[in-house]
Amino acid sequence: MTVTAVVAAGMALLAIAPASAGTTLGASAAEKGRYFGTAVAANKLSDNTYVTILNREFNSVTAENEMKWNATEPQQGQFSHTNGDRIVNHGRQRGMLVRGHALLWHQQQPGWAQNMSGSALRSAAINHVTQVATHYRGKIHSWDVVNEAFADGTGGGRRDSNLQRTGNDWIEAAFRAARAADPGAKLCYNDYNTDGINAKSTGIYNMVRDFKARGVPIDCVGIQSHLTNTVPGDYQANIQRFADLGVDVQITELDITGSNQANVYASVVRSCLAVARCTGITVWGIRDSDSWRTGQNPLLFDNSGNKKAAYTSTLNALNSGGTPVPTTPGTNPTTPPPPSTPPPTSGPGGCTATMFLNSWTGGFVATVRVTAGASAITSWRVTITLPSGAAVTNAWSATNTGTTGTTQWANVSYNGTVAAGQTTEFGFQGTGTATGPSPTCTAS
Ligand code: G3I
Repeated sequence: MTVTAVVAAGMALLAIAPASAGTTLGASAAEKGRYFGTAVAANKLSDNTYVTILNREFNSVTAENEMKWNATEPQQGQFSHTNGDRIVNHGRQRGMLVRGHALLWHQQQPGWAQNMSGSALRSAAINHVTQVATHYRGKIHSWDVVNEAFADGTGGGRRDSNLQRTGNDWIEAAFRAARAADPGAKLCYNDYNTDGINAKSTGIYNMVRDFKARGVPIDCVGIQSHLTNTVPGDYQANIQRFADLGVDVQITELDITGSNQANVYASVVRSCLAVARCTGITVWGIRDSDSWRTGQNPLLFDNSGNKKAAYTSTLNALNSGGTPVPTTPGTNPTTPPPPSTPPPTSGPGGCTATMFLNSWTGGFVATVRVTAGASAITSWRVTITLPSGAAVTNAWSATNTGTTGTTQWANVSYNGTVAAGQTTEFGFQGTGTATGPSPTCTAS
């Protein structure tokens, strides 16, 4: 490890380890190289009891509802990030990790999307992934890119939905678009009733194995773990088999009902700690009164914010045993790694442009990085000649002239000024195949 890497790793640990190590959920998890998070509702960030527990106990947050499709794109093409931003800012200002939940899901779709189908829906869905992941680029530790796409029952297949009816490759298209939009975020598939080795979890296992074999970008599997008084005996084995595929596992929405609650919480924690690639646990709310499971008291704090027996058993389990996570527990990335692509093409007037492409059958998302030369620039123009059959369907962070053949792209008001050697990016989505073009850039 280089000196820089050692310093960076140390900073990452410092960033999520509160001073009272071993006496709070977050601190104890951090000592094991993991995070302990909670779902957060933006409208509770003004509740003192809620925020006091949140800030004291947790080092990761997930928006319970505020990043879902109906919340972030209530009208097609009109995005609303106010409440999601509140949660992200609250967490990041306190050094917490942020999980993004969820880019695509058959539930909680805005009405306009529910009424769409076919290629129009596919295009809208991929655009949604791109826009939301781009908005939060560099701030999200892990994204639930696709949520709950598998059916319950014995078949192990996909759930029917408007998204599924756009074609079986909708999930991989979503993952490719998310990677293009935010290369620094871990990309997760998230589902429930996948706690043990069963038909549904095996269907997901097969998909992840296939994605890894074909190079579809996937980094993690979320096992929601909405449990009722017991946990399957093969819970740990199930986590382990996913880890063995080369992905992280995260317990993403843990809540447990029933009289055996304290023991089951401890068992879940022990199972995660026993698997090196089980990198964090999120409970789905703070107090019982915050839970979606109304009246079932499935969480770690009672309605008044007092610690329950389940809290104590969870903390004790975090403080004992466990397999170290081989790397640091993760940080909210601030500088996404550059995708590996050919070197930029030189432009004649003080800037260069590089195009990164994520393609699927019949479509693509292109991200174009504009880099200023030795002097600062105040405006830029990029020319991209698309191959025959490729057509731009929508774009962001630039205006375009032409959608086929030779297309020209100009900065918008907020990204024309780029300091010497610095970069800005724009992107577009299209149909057809866009491999091959080398963009050229001119600047003033
Ligand atoms: O905010 C409105 C409020 O203005 C309105 O008066 C009220 C009337 O019904 O609804 C409120 O919105 C509700 C929202 O929760 C906030 O409380 C929605 O109706 C309700 O459907 C929504 O439920 C959420 C549910 O997902 C559906 O999106 C739960 O809070 C949330 O905990 C739950 O979380 C899901 C995960 O995202 C995925 N896995 C399962 C998990 C539990 O269902």
